[in-house]
Amino acid sequence: MADTTRTTTSATPASPTTASDATTTAPASKTAMRMTRARADAIFAERLARHHDELRWLYMELYDNGDMFAELCDEMKRFFDARDNKLKKLDLAREEAGAWYRATDMVGMQMYIDNFAGTIKGVEKKLDYIERCHVNYIHLMPFLDTPADKSRSDGGYAVSDFRRVKPELGTMGDLAHLAATCHAKGISLCMDFVMNHTSDEHEWAQRARAGEGEYMSRYFFVRDQGIIDRYTRDVPQVFPTTAPGHFTYLPELDQCVMTQFYPYQWDLNYRNPRVFNEMMYNFLFLANQGIDIIRIDAVPYIWKQLGTNCRNLKQVHTIVRMMRMIGEIVCPGIVLLGEVVMAPVEVAPYFGTVEKPECHMLYNVTTMATTWNTVATRDARLLRQQTDIVCSLPRSYTFLNYLRCHDDIGWGLDYGTLSTWGMAEVPHKQYLNDYFQGHTPGSVSRGELYNADPVTGDARFCATTASMCGIEAAGFEGDDAAMDIAIRKDIMLHAYMFTQSGLPIIYSGDEVGQVNDYAYKDDPEKAEDSRYIHRGAFNWDLAEKIEEPGSVQQRIFDTLRALEDIRRGEPVFSADADVHTKDYDDTSILWIVRSRGGKTLHAVFNFSDDAKTIWMPETAEYTDLVSGETAEIATIAMPSWGFVWMLR
Ligand code: GLC
Repeated sequence: MADTTRTTTSATPASPTTASDATTTAPASKTAMRMTRARADAIFAERLARHHDELRWLYMELYDNGDMFAELCDEMKRFFDARDNKLKKLDLAREEAGAWYRATDMVGMQMYIDNFAGTIKGVEKKLDYIERCHVNYIHLMPFLDTPADKSRSDGGYAVSDFRRVKPELGTMGDLAHLAATCHAKGISLCMDFVMNHTSDEHEWAQRARAGEGEYMSRYFFVRDQGIIDRYTRDVPQVFPTTAPGHFTYLPELDQCVMTQFYPYQWDLNYRNPRVFNEMMYNFLFLANQGIDIIRIDAVPYIWKQLGTNCRNLKQVHTIVRMMRMIGEIVCPGIVLLGEVVMAPVEVAPYFGTVEKPECHMLYNVTTMATTWNTVATRDARLLRQQTDIVCSLPRSYTFLNYLRCHDDIGWGLDYGTLSTWGMAEVPHKQYLNDYFQGHTPGSVSRGELYNADPVTGDARFCATTASMCGIEAAGFEGDDAAMDIAIRKDIMLHAYMFTQSGLPIIYSGDEVGQVNDYAYKDDPEKAEDSRYIHRGAFNWDLAEKIEEPGSVQQRIFDTLRALEDIRRGEPVFSADADVHTKDYDDTSILWIVRSRGGKTLHAVFNFSDDAKTIWMPETAEYTDLVSGETAEIATIAMPSWGFVWMLR
């Protein structure tokens, strides 16, 4: 094994103590304790040995700093030692089970703690509702400490302390408690790890602002306007309207600091091994609280290189690969979920290779955007092509499927293909944005633009699923017939999400058809950011209406639950099923075939305002999985925005 001897380093790493340490029970006798310790040490040594050479190679390639690598190894051991025994057992069970997050009984929900239940303790009290939703994966939106002023927190994505929970939401102890309670119920927890930047109120940023060189080297400070101009030329803007530019001027230092996102989010300098090490310690600290899935936020942006577009550089992959190995050494039960909102060709490489995996799971972002494109165009050809691309990837690649999240929908579509069908990029984006704002005749969608760029004419879009499907418009107009169609569309899109291999995620509120919340406009700290339109507080009155037969909420809630039940019970939904699309002579129809264990599922979706007659491939006995009826079938009468799951 290569030398990992530790010598002095420039700053002492923070302690690996976990909030759950206090709850760990000591083994009965000293001998038993020594044996447990010896066994644990052997497990750690074996895991480290498995990855050591590759980890060291990559680390030295990037940093050429043996002392810092030695420190990293020491710290991994300290975090391993501090890891709760229950979590260690879960690690072993998950190592044995393999890709546990791919099971078809997994259903996720993403939520802001304050919106859902006020505090972390509040979430714990509401677990019965979460279980009622059949949800066994909760993504708690950013809850670490951020500036109190919401206009400087980016919805929690400007972290000022990676080891402290926002006081109004609770404490690290509450989090560890929630995680333990969730584990006892078979629920896993996901959290964001915002690794590209810190808030300008983070201690490092404050010390950098005070001129301490050690801390300035953790960010990118620039005086030379020429360099700033080159970045401006080569690097695309993230928030062209709400936060234009890549640098923020700091008068106290008479220098600019790199801020690719908002001016108060300072980009971390991963060329500095101290940044990498400290961020890995933060990651392990959070994993030790009992977090199961770490969502690595904005990961493509973490390595900067003048003269490039600073996206997806090879060093990013080196860092993610190292993070994967560090996780596998200390806490192999955890999953890395990469937030890679990029063109499809850039996304799949974040899975790494079979021998050298990076992320366990990635967002299926292109499929999500293409789904809404299909809603607006009633043309399923691009979605079919996108489905085929996903199906051609190795089955071990696991995607997180979703209809919408807390962010805007960016129209990252395959414009090469669309243009061959007469849909050029700029007018097509304009069409989509007009359609979803409800400006196009026949559109029932409601929502708002996000970061409309006056220079490029580009804009993204924000709204809840229900509002995009017409539930808001139909409710406002009191139009029952329109409501029936809107609910059907909403359910059909969820059914399509459940049909895909991977982990389906529902945004909290979507399960009861919650519509846009315009209240953010009255809050000066939020008014500038239209993403708050779909981040409204969860409406518990709506949740009560699931008890009212025939209510919008009951119809959506019960149907989604029924679909989840079917999904978990039928092997054709397994991540190992064969999946392909089927040619059908109607461009509004998307037809997906899933086969497994001698059974075949025909999942057919009508992306059209018209009813359709669907011809089955052959007259035969099929079971309609939704109604449970089995009959000999040649054709199916499908309403507008309807779907079927037919099993043979
Ligand atoms: C991610 C988050 C987004 C945030 C950004 C900056 O993309 O999803 O909400 O604004 O990172 O941290």
